[in-house]
Amino acid sequence: MSYTPPAPSPPPKTSFPPPPSPPSPWPRHQNRWTRLPRRKKLYLLAAALTALLALALGLGLGLSIGRRHHGSDPGDGGDGDDKPPLQPPLPPPSSQPPWTPHVGDSWQIVLLNPIVPPSNTSKLTPDVDVYDLDLFTTPASTISSLHARGKKVLCYFSGGSYEPGRPDSGEFREEDMGRELEGWPGERWLDLGSENVRRIMRERVELAGEKGCDGVDVDNVDGYDNNSLLPLTPTSSISFLSYLSSLTTPLNLTLGLKNAASIIPTVLPIIHFSVNEQCVDEHECDLFQQFVEAGKPVFHIEYPKDVESKMNGGKGKGEDGGAVLEKYCGERNGVKGFSTVLKRMDLDGWVGYCDGKVEVTGMEGGSGS
Ligand SMILES: *[C@@H]1O[C@H](CO)[C@@H](O)[C@H](O)[C@H]1NC(C)=O
Ligand SMILES: *[C@@H]1O[C@H](CO)[C@@H](O)[C@H](O)[C@H]1NC(C)=O
Ligand SMILES: *[C@@H]1O[C@H](CO)[C@@H](O)[C@H](O)[C@H]1NC(C)=O
Repeated sequence: MSYTPPAPSPPPKTSFPPPPSPPSPWPRHQNRWTRLPRRKKLYLLAAALTALLALALGLGLGLSIGRRHHGSDPGDGGDGDDKPPLQPPLPPPSSQPPWTPHVGDSWQIVLLNPIVPPSNTSKLTPDVDVYDLDLFTTPASTISSLHARGKKVLCYFSGGSYEPGRPDSGEFREEDMGRELEGWPGERWLDLGSENVRRIMRERVELAGEKGCDGVDVDNVDGYDNNSLLPLTPTSSISFLSYLSSLTTPLNLTLGLKNAASIIPTVLPIIHFSVNEQCVDEHECDLFQQFVEAGKPVFHIEYPKDVESKMNGGKGKGEDGGAVLEKYCGERNGVKGFSTVLKRMDLDGWVGYCDGKVEVTGMEGGSGS
């Protein structure tokens, strides 16, 4: 007995009446288009074509990034990596946050321990435009003291990795987590498409808003570059940043992109600054120039070996200090316009700048030097 498939039923005949045409503000035979002067028509046509071309390029780029990655990832099961589906980044939010950082802004980043809150009588060390501090360990009072000094605060949290010991670490599920990050025991890559991960990250962004942060520095959004044992692609990161932008925009928080060079062209419209680590050592500073060209700063960190002794405590350049500055601050390495800091790996209070100055921000429980 052979199986006879049921005859396909004809598509249901649904005939909707044509929608009523809206009343035209123009006389019947003279619509908006025909009334336009010829020059204006050409201009509009050109604008439409440009928009189409931009869209096509954008899509092509997103697809080719995804494909290139797909072919080269050995641990990839081959499907499931388009969850969530390709979601072009949101257009630039119509409401720009009240503050966005500028190209060349000076900065300091201290993540190891909370900084000693600046008092309004002592000198702020260093006296820079922007501080990048840990979201969880920095009290709101420190942020408001910095604001009182006219400073802006970016709040750091990891968006793409599980760190043990954070107040909300217990909320991640085993299935949200992949392989450990190399060199960071206990820290594991997160599935950026997981609803649970996104819920936790939403609460982190909300905490940043409550604490009075001016923006967020969201780390580890480039898991696609590593063998995370998770279905992470550049598309997952683009979608995740779109999601973050939908959270930060209504809270007036500026949004940064940490590293993640290959997705810069796609997400640039929704991102206000870059935080880059080691583009000189990785020979990729040129890629981050896209930010500067768009009028957005690159907060650039390098971790030169033995930087503290080489910079000789800021007293002159030290024996090798000149070479360090030449290497990490020299414009021929593509860092023109960047806001460069030289730091120690643990991101303590010590910081060196391209003019040879060295400063040490006091941390709770130790000076940091
Ligand atoms: C220092 O700040 C506190 C509160 O932040 C304020 O009450 C006090 O008047 C300030 N002192 C000076 C000298 O500005
Ligand atoms: C990511 O992968 C690169 C090489 O594939 C490796 O050098 C780096 O340490 C990895 N990073 C993390 C955080 O696992
Ligand atoms: C965001 O900034 C605008 C303009 O400065 C302000 O009107 C609005 O209340 C702010 N929203 C929040 C959530 O702070």
